[in-house]
Amino acid sequence: MLVEEVKRCVEKYYPKGIEIRRRIHQYPELSEQEVETAGLAAAVLRELGIETRCGIAGNGVLGIIHGAKPGKTVLLRADMDALAIDEAADVPFKSKKPGVMHACGHDGHTAGLLMAAMALNELKDRFSGTVKLLFQPAEETVGGAERMIAAGVLENPRVDAAFGCHLWGPAEEGTVLVKSGPLMASPDEFAVTLSGAGGHGAMPHLTADPALMTAQAIVQFQSIISRRKDPLEPAVLSVCMVHGGSAFNVIPESMEMRGTIRTFSKELRDFIPQEMEKTLKAITLTSGGTYKFELKKLFPPLVNDAAAADFARKSAEKLFGKERVKEAVPSMGGDDFAYFSEKIPSCYFFVGIAPKGSKVIHHSPYFKWDEKALQVSAACLCQTALDYLSV
Ligand code: NI
Repeated sequence: MLVEEVKRCVEKYYPKGIEIRRRIHQYPELSEQEVETAGLAAAVLRELGIETRCGIAGNGVLGIIHGAKPGKTVLLRADMDALAIDEAADVPFKSKKPGVMHACGHDGHTAGLLMAAMALNELKDRFSGTVKLLFQPAEETVGGAERMIAAGVLENPRVDAAFGCHLWGPAEEGTVLVKSGPLMASPDEFAVTLSGAGGHGAMPHLTADPALMTAQAIVQFQSIISRRKDPLEPAVLSVCMVHGGSAFNVIPESMEMRGTIRTFSKELRDFIPQEMEKTLKAITLTSGGTYKFELKKLFPPLVNDAAAADFARKSAEKLFGKERVKEAVPSMGGDDFAYFSEKIPSCYFFVGIAPKGSKVIHHSPYFKWDEKALQVSAACLCQTALDYLSV
């Protein structure tokens, strides 16, 4: 429904979208500090006459557009936070804040959803039901989505389905990638401390050697991935920090390591830490040391609902044709949109930003993308919402 109107509106609001995106890009804000970004989003919504609530779960903003008649309620979500990275990308609208950069595209998510808000607001007499526009803080760290849900954004009116998208560096510009089922992994964090008697590097037999225990643990952890779980079920376990020791000839009394576990299912998400703990028990038993294992569960796996994914796919196909809409390849990255997908039928999809023949790396100081992608993301969000509300 309204495909040509959506295209026309997105085209019309594209210059405004670029302006908003560049403003946010120049003044990036870290998680839980998105004050100006949230203020800008709220100001744009209010200027359009859209009912707007601010300060939800910190810096969250919710806009509500009521259609001509009562009907279903659909939620569209964008995240707003930036990263602690010093921008090295060569763009005329470079970050004016040293050490802070929009290196994941959340500036584009916010601008794209505001463009969709402008279009939906213009078309509000042509649809039934309600659109909730959710601008969310703290995706990169504490999971602002969970907090916004706890603050009640899925109620009054009750949300029937949620959609969101991420600008996507591994995919080609102009493409939209959709998939039902697991799309993004659960990005849990762990910390391990191995302790025991230290001593002279020349006399290891008098120590428990926490350095050797740590090395054994790192190797054994990989055999959980390669030997303990079903090889057809994907999972990653990466040890990313190892700290300990103070001199070349002193065996330390403790070593600490930290890392991440990535899984797509609840079962594996529980199983891997249990196996890690078994491994640590065995290593410390034979070495005469002790261990401390801490698990910080972050977001759940992001699993798209089949019917919601079908809506997103068909809406994108109406706008851009089947050849530009592809099956998404799941990512081991995480996204706190997962909290929405856990509660209500949802679909998160990707919008390609890589120039043909190349890849764009997220969370890199060189991260950059062409703003044409704003038209794609805004049109897809807008069209999907309209199509969902029309049946
Ligand atoms: Ni991101």
